Amino acid sequence: AKIIYIEHNGTRHEVEVKNGLSVMEGAVKNNIPGIDGDCGGACACATCHVYVDDAWRDKVAAPEDLETSMLEFAESVEESSRLSCQIVVSDALDGLTVRMPESQH
Ligand code: FES
Repeated sequence: AKIIYIEHNGTRHEVEVKNGLSVMEGAVKNNIPGIDGDCGGACACATCHVYVDDAWRDKVAAPEDLETSMLEFAESVEESSRLSCQIVVSDALDGLTVRMPESQH
């Protein structure tokens, strides 16, 4: 599916990410700055924090408890905040747009 990553400075990256990979893995494989994924997707580092575009918030599965508690360690958390390693790419998310927070660049 096509995933659109927007850096804090507005730079837009539109990339094809295989279904089944996480949005974090898609960013790391495509060398997109702003998403580090230090813990490898174990929901333990919060360096993959993103803001999900409003139009997509209903389509992305709700966070599990572990993600919600890890998000407390992220900076500048907003209602649309998610850990991108916990969002699994599928056809339903074709066109998903996420923005990276200022603290990750
Ligand atoms: Fe570490 Fe997402 S990659 S919490």
